[in-house]
Amino acid sequence: MAETIAVKDAWAAGASLSDADYRAWYEESVTDPEGFWGRHAGRLDWVTPFTKVKNTSFAPGNVSIKWFEDGVLNASANCLDRHAAKDGGRTAIIFEGDDPGESRRISYAEVLEEVCRMANVLKAEGVRKGDRVTIYLPMIPEAAYAMLACARIGAVHSVVFGGFSPDSLAGRLVDATSGFVITADEGVRGGRKVPLKANVDKAIAIAEKGGQKVGKVLMVRRTGGDVAVEPGRDLWWHERREAVAPTCAPEPMGAEDPLFILYTSGSTGKPKGVLHTTGGYLLYAAMTHAHVFDYRPGEVYWCTADVGWVTGHSYIVYGPLANGATTLMFEGVPTYPDAGRLWQVVDKHQVNIFYTAPTAIRALMGAGDEPVTRASRRSLRVLGTVGEPINPEAWLWYYRVVGEERCPIVDTWWQTETGGILITPLPGATALKPGSATRPFFGVRPELVDGEGKPLDGAAEGNLCIADSWPGQMRTVYGDHERFEQTYFSTYKGKYFTGDGARRDGDGYWWITGRVDDVLNVSGHRMGTAEIESALVSHPKVSEAAVVGYPHDVKGQGIYCYVTLMKGEEGTEELRRELVLHVRGEIGPFAAPDKIQFAPGLPKTRSGKIMRRILRKIAEDEPGALGDTSTLAEPAVVEDLVANRQNKR
Ligand code: WT7
Repeated sequence: MAETIAVKDAWAAGASLSDADYRAWYEESVTDPEGFWGRHAGRLDWVTPFTKVKNTSFAPGNVSIKWFEDGVLNASANCLDRHAAKDGGRTAIIFEGDDPGESRRISYAEVLEEVCRMANVLKAEGVRKGDRVTIYLPMIPEAAYAMLACARIGAVHSVVFGGFSPDSLAGRLVDATSGFVITADEGVRGGRKVPLKANVDKAIAIAEKGGQKVGKVLMVRRTGGDVAVEPGRDLWWHERREAVAPTCAPEPMGAEDPLFILYTSGSTGKPKGVLHTTGGYLLYAAMTHAHVFDYRPGEVYWCTADVGWVTGHSYIVYGPLANGATTLMFEGVPTYPDAGRLWQVVDKHQVNIFYTAPTAIRALMGAGDEPVTRASRRSLRVLGTVGEPINPEAWLWYYRVVGEERCPIVDTWWQTETGGILITPLPGATALKPGSATRPFFGVRPELVDGEGKPLDGAAEGNLCIADSWPGQMRTVYGDHERFEQTYFSTYKGKYFTGDGARRDGDGYWWITGRVDDVLNVSGHRMGTAEIESALVSHPKVSEAAVVGYPHDVKGQGIYCYVTLMKGEEGTEELRRELVLHVRGEIGPFAAPDKIQFAPGLPKTRSGKIMRRILRKIAEDEPGALGDTSTLAEPAVVEDLVANRQNKR
């Protein structure tokens, strides 16, 4: 289908690895993982070196994942102290505010001091090793300080994206049994304020009804906006930081001690608390950051994700800082004040490596080339994408217009669960194909299986599994190891099942085709259809709901909701708007339905199971491709659904 873009001489010159290196390293990594990872673990500083590298099992009923289990280290010391000691004046974080007039460079020595102060405040307020601290902050340096302060004292952070509603935040407080929140008065994005502290107040009230008390809230002053302050509970960071010491010894942590929990959506039930531990996660984040982006000392690296998602954890904070890199944190959005913002920031801070999501690329592509070409972009060397499949058209625009064919593009496939990038090109080593994530990273053994779990060889399409563990893999679902096994290891016994479909071509290149389960990917935000359904049915006028995705030009997938109303209710335009607001309020603005179809009934089998295949086809405006409908309990339902479909061309 698409052409292959060979590695250019300019990419290979100075690259850390060649194609031959990749092949040799990969071979060693899968034939001798102990030797390979044992050696590369030397890129971290260990308080006590490990004697054992890998101790992992995907066996049904006995899934257990341990890496470097008797090693001792501290993640914040690896990210800060060792770089501050060598070159404390080097810039660790470049902060670029929402307002184009606001930016700041923060050195490794300064970040270390702020992290120590925040760690001391946490300790003074009673936070102990193993306690869960919830972080609900905008994209400001204090978000990184908060994560690293937790890591410093051995507290487990649970970052909740600032776009989540009070209800979603409350659910995460309860599940993590977290009694401490770090937030800000307000956030600012695209010139608009986000009422973070007010959301926290609401969430605390909801969580308390759910049995979880929140005893302390540490507030960062960002906008100076008015907030309610509860004496004894709510503390200002700018006041408390003055009252504590500027140094704090890092807590020695076992490699398998938890580092963080991050909630993510699956096809069923509530979001899962994905648990990552210290040694393997940090090594994998650092190693992938170094090689996937071919990071070179002194370069400026910018990942546009939010720290509320795993991309922000691994590739804004932990990976880059573990490597002593300069990482840019951007508070704003790509289209504010205008569609040229990202490239203006690239020029302003002389960004060398730029990593963003396909949805942003598609949105900017729609604004034309001029906002891009207006900026010089001469500093750019490597471009990356993550979060969803990238269509070749968007890939080629990124390659030709943004990178002027000078920069290789790394399309990186991975998941919250994987901790770091699993399938990706390496700049200067891998020939590229627009739309393909290309080849596995070191130590990663992807496999394709058919619906019955039978391995597929050669060029084939099927379900994407990983055959063996890698150091960055999640260790468990927080508080529910059985759910961990059930979700990831029971579909295809003995393998980790990703939930994605994929194709392997004749060159052994991997093409990710998207989720094969009931998980949506909307503008790179991952959502379970079940979560949106339960938000809809919590509305008093809704009796039943079914949610599916459909192809969307900018968002990748749009949210299509079939809603059956309570007897006597009428499906008006007003109710449609009300339901959209209701879902935004229950989950967050990014979960707002794109289409709502009022349906007198949903297509079900005689045993009562909703036939989603049919609903997907109708949402995709393909009523001619419904397939076999003979098992439906009431075939007439489908006629109404087809006649009233909302995506009719
Ligand atoms: C799902 C994971 C990993 C960080 C951001 C998302 C999809 C991710 C790619 C890519 C095709 C991709 C998959 C995956 N995905 N990257 N390069 N090509 N699909 O993390 O929220 O855990 O979502 O995102 O479907 O399963 P996440």
